[in-house]
Amino acid sequence: MHVLVTGGTGYIGSTAAEILRNQGYEISIFDDCSTGHSDSVPAGVRFIPGSLLNSSEIAVALQDVDAVMHFAGKSLVGESVSKPNLYHSVNVDGTRNLLNEMKAACVGKIVFSSSAATYGEPKEIPILESAQTNPTNPYGATKLAIDHMISRESQEQGIAAVSLRYFNVAGALKCDRGWLAERHDPETHLIPNVLRSTHANPVQIFGSDWPTTDGTCIRDYVHVIDLIDAHIKALESLADGVHEIYNLGSGDGYSVRQVVAAASKAIGYDIPTVDSPRRAGDPAILIADINKAKAQLGWVPTRGINEMVADTLASFT
Ligand SMILES: NC(=O)c1ccc[n+]([C@@H]2O[C@H](COP(=O)([O-])OP(=O)(O)OC[C@H]3O[C@@H](n4cnc5c(N)ncnc54)[C@H](O)[C@@H]3O)[C@@H](O)[C@H]2O)c1
Repeated sequence: MHVLVTGGTGYIGSTAAEILRNQGYEISIFDDCSTGHSDSVPAGVRFIPGSLLNSSEIAVALQDVDAVMHFAGKSLVGESVSKPNLYHSVNVDGTRNLLNEMKAACVGKIVFSSSAATYGEPKEIPILESAQTNPTNPYGATKLAIDHMISRESQEQGIAAVSLRYFNVAGALKCDRGWLAERHDPETHLIPNVLRSTHANPVQIFGSDWPTTDGTCIRDYVHVIDLIDAHIKALESLADGVHEIYNLGSGDGYSVRQVVAAASKAIGYDIPTVDSPRRAGDPAILIADINKAKAQLGWVPTRGINEMVADTLASFT
C-alpha cells in the first residue's frame, strides 16, 4: 500500500513515515516544513514540498497513492487563541482541499490526527469517544470541525476514515539518521520542557491546589511509537463508508509532579520547579478511555512514562 504522509517532516508524521517504511509500506511525504524539518525525510523517499492551502500541490502529492495519513496542521493551543483565522484556514480549509483532491484522485482512505482538545472540559473521567465535545480553544474547534467534515465525507462519498484523538504524545524514535523527536519552537509540551529546565529557568507548575492527589494537574501520555502502531492498525481496519473515532492515550494519568519525578530520576538530579497560579481553561484531570481502540483495533500501548522520558532525554544527545 502506498501511503501519503501529510505533515511527514513534523514530530509525529516523521515517526509514522519511518515506521511505515520499516514495515514495508511505500510512502510519500507532503509538508510545507512550516514547523517540520526536511532533514527528517528518509533517503530515497518521495518528498513533495507543498501546502494544504495549494490544491495543485496536493494533487501532485496524491499521484499513485492508496491512502492518506493526515498529520499536517497547526497545533499550538495558545497560538490558536491569538491567530484563530490561521488555524481555521490551515486546519479546516486545508483539510477540505485535501478531501477534494482525494476525491478527484479516487483516494478513498484516510487516517486523521484529531485531538483530545475536541472534548474540552470533561464531565466524566476517563473520557469516552461518546463524551460531549465542547472545545475550549480554536485549535480544538478546528479538530472537531474536521472530524465532522470527515464524517460527512464518509457518509456522502463513501470514504473509509478513522479519526484518532490523541491525548499527550511523548517519547522519540531512534533511526539510522539519529533520533526523530520533538523539535518544536516554541516547545509547549511538558516532558521536553521539564528535561530542559535549569535553576535559571525552572519548570513552572501551573496550579498546586487542584483536586488531585498531589495538587497538580493530571494528564494522559502516550509514547509516539505506540501511537503510530495504532495508526497502522487503524489503516488496516479502514472500511468504505465508515468513519470511526478512537481515543489514543495510555488510559492512565500522571500528575505534573509525577512527570517531574520521572524526569529527575532519568536525568540524575532534582529538576527545579516553581509553583505558579492556575492557567485559565486547564481542566484538573484528562485521562482517555482507550477500551474502544483496544477492542476494535487490538491495540495495546506498551511503553510507560519512564520510557517516554528516557527516549526524550536520549534524543537530546
Ligand atoms: N503532539 C501532540 O501531543 C498532539 C496531540 C494531539 C494531536 N496532535 C496532532 O498531530 C499532528 C502532528 O503533530 P506534531 O506534534 O507532529 O506537530 P508538528 O508541528 O511537528 O507537525 C505538523 C506538520 O505539519 C506541517 N504543516 C503545517 N502546516 C502545513 C500546511 N499548510 N501544509 C503542509 N504541511 C503543513 C508542518 O510543517 C509539520 O511538519 C497535528 O495535526 C497535531 O494537531 C498532536
